[in-house]
Amino acid sequence: MPSEAVLVEGARKRYGDKDALDGLDLAIGRGTVHGLLGPNGAGKTTTVRILATLLRHDEGLVRVAGHDVRTGAREVRRRIGLLGQHAALDEELGGRQNLEMFGRLHHLGARRAGTRADELLERFGLADTGRKPVRHYSGGMRRRLDLAASLITEPEVLFLDEPTTGLDPRARGEVWEAVRSLVGGGVTVLLTTQYLEEADRLADRISVVDRGRVVADGTPDQLKARVGADRVDVVVRDATRLDEAAGLLPVARAEVTVDVDRRRVGAPVADRMAALAETVRALGAAGIEAEDIALRRPTLDEVFLRLTADEKEAAA
Ligand SMILES: Nc1ncnc2c1ncn2[C@@H]1O[C@H](COP(=O)(O)OP(=O)(O)OP(=O)(O)O)[C@@H](O)[C@H]1O
Ligand SMILES: [Mg+2]
Repeated sequence: MPSEAVLVEGARKRYGDKDALDGLDLAIGRGTVHGLLGPNGAGKTTTVRILATLLRHDEGLVRVAGHDVRTGAREVRRRIGLLGQHAALDEELGGRQNLEMFGRLHHLGARRAGTRADELLERFGLADTGRKPVRHYSGGMRRRLDLAASLITEPEVLFLDEPTTGLDPRARGEVWEAVRSLVGGGVTVLLTTQYLEEADRLADRISVVDRGRVVADGTPDQLKARVGADRVDVVVRDATRLDEAAGLLPVARAEVTVDVDRRRVGAPVADRMAALAETVRALGAAGIEAEDIALRRPTLDEVFLRLTADEKEAAA
């Protein structure tokens, strides 16, 4: 058994003269959650559709659960589950009936389909509403039912294409809980998202995609570290002392940024606690009053904007 549940090397997919995938690489370890993070049109759905054998790639190697998607499509299909960007539920049927139907479509016997439906409803907190028609479900309930449907066949690898797009924060939290609960069972999850927070919360590793290629990958912490160190920011009460304050931060003067409108000086620092202590001491010694002093780490948003901006510069 290869250690990767998903392995993609140099995948290309072209639509007319447009490269939807332009040499995409991806390696996902078994039993992990991998986030594919990218803006609209980055190639996320194209990647998922190729992995799920719904679309053929033009070039490159693509293996899922140990099988090549070209030569072993049947083997791959048997081992995967897919939650598409748009749901495929029957609005008039209840949640339980929907799941039973999915089970029958996947060749489960009637009894097995029924017990599997009940297990999944229970697991996703839908047991009480299993008989209510889906058109009366909230957005979060629908998405959890979708998720349940994608698990009917007990897949080894599960693809979730933007599982929480369009959901309110509460429903999004419910879906996150549901996804987390899968991982204990050993399922490998590939999740696409435009939400940095979602990737940060759920994924063990993240690949940032932009224009059909991976522009960065690593753990959320590694990605944050790539963009730079922690920062110290100081808001000075008296704007006339801003320059003086800038000179007191414990880094080279060239590293300090000064925001006159906000009366703020800031700089990246190596040792955050020592830098904070030194900043407080130096400001105090100089008699400069601070309205606010903060230590902060770069957010994944900053990482993302920075990485995709680098890519644009490289392409220009
Ligand atoms: N059937 C198609 N015909 C032509 N171009 C397509 C087709 N499907 C996708 N594309 C193009 O390929 C690129 C990648 O699309 P894809 O749907 O994979 O992006 P995505 O990352 O899933 O975006 P979104 O966040 O909007 O879902 C886009 O430029 C898109 O316009
Ligand atoms: Mg998409």
